[in-house]
Amino acid sequence: MSKSQYQAPKGTRDIMAPETNRVSALLRLFEETLNSGGYNQIISPIFEDIGVFQRLGHSSEIVTKEMFDLFDKDPKNPQHLVLRPELTASICRAFAQHRPVTPWKVWYEGPQFRYEKPQAGRYRQFLQVGAELLGSPDPHADVEIISMASRFFQKTGLANTKLLLNSLGDTETRGNYNDALTNYLNLNQVNLSEQSQETMLKNPLRVLDSKREKDQEIIQNAPFITDFLNDDSNKHFQIVQEGLSLLGIDYDLAPRLVRGLDYYTKTTFEFVAPNLDTAQNAVGGGGRYDGLVEALGGPPTEGIGFAIGIDRTLLACEAENVSQSVDNIEIFIVDTTGGGEALVLSDELRQIGLSVDRSFDQRSMKAQMKAADRSGAQLAIIIGTDELNENQVTLRDLRGDGIQTVLDRQSLAKILPEMLQETTK
Ligand code: HAM
Repeated sequence: MSKSQYQAPKGTRDIMAPETNRVSALLRLFEETLNSGGYNQIISPIFEDIGVFQRLGHSSEIVTKEMFDLFDKDPKNPQHLVLRPELTASICRAFAQHRPVTPWKVWYEGPQFRYEKPQAGRYRQFLQVGAELLGSPDPHADVEIISMASRFFQKTGLANTKLLLNSLGDTETRGNYNDALTNYLNLNQVNLSEQSQETMLKNPLRVLDSKREKDQEIIQNAPFITDFLNDDSNKHFQIVQEGLSLLGIDYDLAPRLVRGLDYYTKTTFEFVAPNLDTAQNAVGGGGRYDGLVEALGGPPTEGIGFAIGIDRTLLACEAENVSQSVDNIEIFIVDTTGGGEALVLSDELRQIGLSVDRSFDQRSMKAQMKAADRSGAQLAIIIGTDELNENQVTLRDLRGDGIQTVLDRQSLAKILPEMLQETTK
C-alpha cells in the first residue's frame, strides 16, 4: 500500500472499530460505577491558561517539558494557553471559579495531551477517565475514591491489577522528610544520574520517581517517608488502610511511590498492571491534594481523586485476554432486488429498537453475504426476487449452522425481537 500524504501526528493514533467498541464499553462501565457513588459528570475545556497547570510543580516534567502551547489571537489579550495535560488542575480551577456546594463529587472522561517520547502505552494524546471529591478532609473520602477506581477495574474483568498505596503526609511531614532525604541524596550525589542531580536541587522527592537504572540502588536505600509521618498524617493513613480492608480491597504499601505531580499531600496511590512493560504499567493513579484549590485562587479546600488511562487499560485487557462485550449489529439485510427493500426494512426494524445494517451499491449476493458475515450480525434477512414477489423473506442464522427459514414479511417486526433473544441465551 502506498503511504498517504498525511499521517496522524506523532504520538497520536486513530482508534477505530472494533477497538472503539471496547473503548465505549469501558467508558460505559466507568460512568455506571461513578454514578452509583453519587458523582456527576463534568465537561471542562480542553485548553486552559498555562497558569492553571504551572501549579502542578516546577520540578514535574509535565510542566517543564510536556505542554502543548497555544496563543490567543487577540492582540489585546495574547493569553498563553495550553492543551490540558491532565484534569485535576482544571477541576480545581472550575471549583475556585464556581464555588459549588461541598462535598463536590465529579467524574470526567476525555483526551489529555503531553509532549512525551511516544512508545507502546505512552502517547501524546491519550484518553483518561477520572473522578475528584472536593471539600472533605475525611479519610473515608480517600477510601471511597480508591474504591471507585478499584470497582471499575474489577468490572472490566482484569484480575491482576495491583493497588500500590503510600502517604506523602502533610506540609510538616514533607518538610521533615525533605531535610532527611536531601541529606541522604547529598551524601550519594556523585552516584546519581545527571538528571536526578538536577532534579534533586528543585525537588528531592521527585528523584524517587526516577526510572533510570543508575538511580535505582540509591532510591532503594533512601529513607521511607512513612517513617516521618506526624500524628495527624499517620492517623489519616491508618484510617485509610482500615477502610480499604473493611471493603476487602487488597493493597501493597509502596513507600517509594511519590507520583509525577507535585500537588499531592497525604494519600497517594497507583494501580499497576503487572502484565505491561514496567515503564508503562501504571493504568491509573491519584491521591489527595489539599492545597491545590487555594493555589488556584479558591478558598482552602481539600481534594482527593484519581485518573485512569483508558489506552493502557485496553492494553492490560489484551495482555490478560479479557474482552469487553462488544455491541455487534444484530441483523444484516441482504437485498438483491435493487436495495429499495433494504432501505425500508432497515428503517422499520431500527425504529423498533433493533440494530441493523445493509450493503449499498447493488452488490452481488456473494459480496453482500460476505459483508453480513463480517458485520458480526446474528441473523441475515435475505430478499431476492422470489421473496419480493411472495412478500416473504429468508432468514439465515449467521452464528449457528446457517439454518434458513422463510417468513412472511409482515410478521418480522413481531418475530425478530423474540428470535434474537432466543439466540443470545
Ligand atoms: P497521572 O498518573 O499523570 O495522574 O495519569 C493517570 C493515568 O493516565 C496513568 O496511570 C496512565 O494510565 C495514564 N497516562 C498518563 N500519561 C499517559 C500517556 N502519555 N499515554 C498514555 N496514558 C497515559 C493524573 O493525571 C492525575 N490527574 C490523577 C489524579 C486525579 N490525581 C488526583 N486526581
